[in-house]
Amino acid sequence: MDLGLRDKVAIVTGGTRGIGKASAAALLREGARVVICGRTPGTLREAEAELSPLGEVSGLELDVTDADAPARLVSETTGRFGRVDILFSNVGGNRRKPFLETTDEDWAELHELNLGSHIRLARAVAAPMKEQGQGVILFNASIFGREAGGPELTIYNTTKAGMISLAKIMALDLAPFGIRVNSIAPGSILFPGGSWHKRREADPDGIARFVERNLPLGRFGHLDEVADFVAFMVSERASLLTGSCVNVDGGQSRSLI
Ligand SMILES: NC(=O)c1ccc[n+]([C@@H]2O[C@H](COP(=O)([O-])OP(=O)(O)OC[C@H]3O[C@@H](n4cnc5c(N)ncnc54)[C@H](OP(=O)(O)O)[C@@H]3O)[C@@H](O)[C@H]2O)c1
Repeated sequence: MDLGLRDKVAIVTGGTRGIGKASAAALLREGARVVICGRTPGTLREAEAELSPLGEVSGLELDVTDADAPARLVSETTGRFGRVDILFSNVGGNRRKPFLETTDEDWAELHELNLGSHIRLARAVAAPMKEQGQGVILFNASIFGREAGGPELTIYNTTKAGMISLAKIMALDLAPFGIRVNSIAPGSILFPGGSWHKRREADPDGIARFVERNLPLGRFGHLDEVADFVAFMVSERASLLTGSCVNVDGGQSRSLI
């Protein structure tokens, strides 16, 4: 199936490792031109070097929570590639803590990382997309925005649920301009250096039990299994898909909806 992504221009935030880098690679393989960003110059350059054999990629050192990040990302992208067709708003983080120990700073920082920065960036890309008469915005949420993730996840669960709600309502606002907005809800995805990898290193038996109890396929998800789905969701083959949140979780979530 031709996804129709050739020469499309995509922004992938947090494209230096994990789901972001794998998704940037999937888009490049389909012929898209991609701007990635991250805060760490070394890993940004490494990711650029790794991805550039696949196609035209540009790395921008930037913190998405900075006030000028949306304007910088859009001007870098339109300056280099002339337009912006796709935003995969992927950056996010977790801060596991018992609710009573969470501070105002914890809430403010994670609200900013998981929600505020996505709102500002989506608004910034939607302006040129509206002028073009088309565009696609995809947020990387989590199954723990769709259903309860468990104790110590109040901040993560709340902000990811907000992101799914944001995508749903943005989709209604932006549909008249030809802009589709969706979110994905990955389950537990394992990759070297990622959060599950670190947790497994720290507690191999505990994580083996977690896999047995929670992951019906008996294994973690792989990066390509999410990245290929991201490429489909932002492609023209998914033209009827807007206002949706789709699980990519190997059956991990329990919710019926
Ligand atoms: N892995 C999973 O099991 C899983 C499951 C469900 C949902 N998710 C979601 O998927 C997204 C990606 O997670 P991941 O596990 O693949 O990767 P990750 O280890 O969280 O890496 C995130 C990427 O974002 C960059 N980044 C982090 N903070 C940033 C900031 N403030 N500004 C700019 N870039 C920033 C990182 O580079 P720098 O550190 O250099 O900035 C890195 O490239 C997150 O939203 C996460 O909640 C992950």
